[in-house]
Amino acid sequence: MSTASNDTGAPRQPDPFVPQSYRVERVSRELPDTVTLKLAPLAGPRPSFEPGQFNMLYAFGIGEVAISVSGDPADSAFVHTVRNVGAVSGALERAAPGSIIGLRGPFGSGWPVKEAEGSDVIIIAGGLGLAPLRPAIYTILANRVRYGRVVILLGSRNPRDILYRHELEQWRQRLDVDIEVTVDHADSEWRGSVGVVPKLIPTAAFDPRGAFGLVCGPEVMMRFSVNALLDAGLPPDRIYASMERNMKCAIGLCGHCQFGPTFVCKDGPVMRFDRIAGIFAMREI
Ligand SMILES: Cc1cc2nc3c(=O)[nH]c(=O)nc-3n(C[C@H](O)[C@H](O)[C@H](O)COP(=O)(O)OP(=O)(O)OC[C@H]3O[C@@H](n4cnc5c(N)ncnc54)[C@H](O)[C@@H]3O)c2cc1C
Ligand code: FES
Repeated sequence: MSTASNDTGAPRQPDPFVPQSYRVERVSRELPDTVTLKLAPLAGPRPSFEPGQFNMLYAFGIGEVAISVSGDPADSAFVHTVRNVGAVSGALERAAPGSIIGLRGPFGSGWPVKEAEGSDVIIIAGGLGLAPLRPAIYTILANRVRYGRVVILLGSRNPRDILYRHELEQWRQRLDVDIEVTVDHADSEWRGSVGVVPKLIPTAAFDPRGAFGLVCGPEVMMRFSVNALLDAGLPPDRIYASMERNMKCAIGLCGHCQFGPTFVCKDGPVMRFDRIAGIFAMREI
């Protein structure tokens, strides 16, 4: 997003409603329906972002959708992982290298990576939910000495759908991170866990009394994961979940993303569990 200076010399914030042009620098196919796009701004540096924040990506002539940043905060481009589930995400999934897309953002709240320093961190992802968590993982691994034990638990429908498979293998080589992947449905080659990801929580190696829990995935998976973290003894104010609702304005004006008394675009998407406990258990609120 370009930030021209105003009369006082201070950088002027771009209009949050006006998409800035970004060039698709690289397209990496993750899964048959999912790609990772590397997007470079046509003008100026890319704005900084916090792990967990999202951008509104605009496929010209088709529409705009919320997509979390999935790349390394140290990368000079914006990296997004998009699953083709409809018109706009389909157009983004088919974007060719060199094509131009619009981008507004970043918006919303991030994961508590700073607050979690000095503590154990347990990261629980379901499927594509690993994408919004990946910038937090990069940040924690880049500053590994500042954290206690780090546990990453990933649930996938089947072995073929495991996201960022090569990167998970690289992280697994490290001796300072515990990674456990479970699948709902195994194939004949699968040697790992079978079952839903919350079932891995009771045996994960971390100290629940002071740990931070970061959870992202389908809502039903997040409900069971949060309950398992509470059962393990994590305080409710140390559990964070990333919520998803349809977005339009992304800046708290239109009401499209209402979640009980909150707006996911500006109060979230990352929300502290004790602040949403009353509405978290309700379906389709
Ligand atoms: C904060 C945030 C971060 C996100 N991050 C990512 C990400 O990193 N990667 C990614 O791929 N996606 C992400 N999403 C999801 C993405 O924004 C949606 O899937 C978006 O709706 C896709 O738009 P579309 O036009 O392609 O499909 P749509 O036409 O919107 O359809 C998408 C799916 O949602 C269903 N749907 C649409 N509208 C509604 C509705 N009102 N109520 C219930 N179901 C509905 C459709 O039936 C379909 O199955 C994120 C969403 C949010 C809010
Ligand atoms: S998208 Fe408009 S209020 Fe959240």
